[in-house]
Amino acid sequence: MFAALRAAEERIYCPLSDGSGFYALTRYEEVSEASRHPEVFSSQPTAVSVTDPAPEVTEYSGSMISLDDPRHARLRRIVSRSFTPRMIQRFTGDVTVLARRLVDELAERGPCDFVEHVATPMPLQIICSMMGIPGTAYGDVIDATNAVLAIGDPDYVGPDGKDRATTIREKFSYLHELMSDLGRLRRERPADDLVTALTNANVDGEALTDIELGRFFTLLVVAGNETTRNALSHALVLFSANPDQRMLLLSDMNRRLPGAVEEVVRYASPVTWMRRTLTRDYELQGHAYQAGDRVILYYNSANRDEAVFKDPHTFDITRSPNPHVGFGAPGPHFCLGAHLAKREITELLRELYARLPNLHATDHACRQRASFINGITSLPCAF
Ligand code: HEM
Repeated sequence: MFAALRAAEERIYCPLSDGSGFYALTRYEEVSEASRHPEVFSSQPTAVSVTDPAPEVTEYSGSMISLDDPRHARLRRIVSRSFTPRMIQRFTGDVTVLARRLVDELAERGPCDFVEHVATPMPLQIICSMMGIPGTAYGDVIDATNAVLAIGDPDYVGPDGKDRATTIREKFSYLHELMSDLGRLRRERPADDLVTALTNANVDGEALTDIELGRFFTLLVVAGNETTRNALSHALVLFSANPDQRMLLLSDMNRRLPGAVEEVVRYASPVTWMRRTLTRDYELQGHAYQAGDRVILYYNSANRDEAVFKDPHTFDITRSPNPHVGFGAPGPHFCLGAHLAKREITELLRELYARLPNLHATDHACRQRASFINGITSLPCAF
């Protein structure tokens, strides 16, 4: 379907049931150009919802991903100082240790659900330990992030009969309260974690306010957990469906891993899209758009664009170059956690296939019913 949309001459307009609608940007060049011009393709009022969010939801969720410069730049500057390669480096030892422990447990447990026992704990424990969240809160944190990201998936939201908006509001406020508590604690008793770095003023006096801290925290736990978890699950699906690629990986793990990780992210596109809203009339790749138009940047489609990727539907870990836009296209919002995510996928794949070379999915992946995230909710595995 996306191939047909990429080939279409005309603009692709998608009407919504509320009378509004959006244009779909499905070609690589369209997605790239829109990302390069944030002054025209604004991330406000939101980058993560097709419809404009209700005010009570923005109050909690309006983080830097949905802001333009100069506010976005100011926030990104503060956070990236605390999110430096050095900071990430400090936690990469944890990534290796955790990967080893998860594979120990998997080897002991035998056939099981890969999502529950491997893909979920990996990013969750890393992001929680970076933030200094106590282990006792891990379960509630994942429950909240699931609900927030899986809006519309009946498995996650509203099983207790509550309506969607109420459930989402409750989960957002849970994450914000957890953050305020942690922030307060760290101001009194600083520790060696990200929250301490974010709540204490930096060299030139800039620090996050309480509300900004809550929003950033929500963004981090949500963006850090779900995306990486799904990338890991997709990796198992892909290597199970393509045993030749698995053999290639096994034949020279150190050499093949970097390319394999990029190809998993290209092929899976764990984040399907981001939204932008036009600040003025603009001609994009031969099509005229108007101020106020909403556009959706389809990363999954850009990553399959035959104009850029040869045999785009083939999973090929030797693909080179592989300029995929799975972490976003170059621009001010490019994924802050790309380095960390790649590290987690690399270490887990290395440990899994070195120890359990025959690890494979034994049935179809159960897909999450959500458009924003290419999610897998369960995936039986054996070895
Ligand atoms: C495979 C895993 C991941 C994928 C596919 C992914 C994908 C993305 C995408 C597509 C964007 C938007 C880019 C844009 O609008 O131009 C983004 C932004 C972001 N990601 Fe990731 N991400 C992943 C992992 C992570 C992790 C592990 C973290 C943090 C620990 C993270 C934190 C963020 C943040 C904070 C932003 C917003 C940056 C900004 O607005 O300036 N992501 N990510």
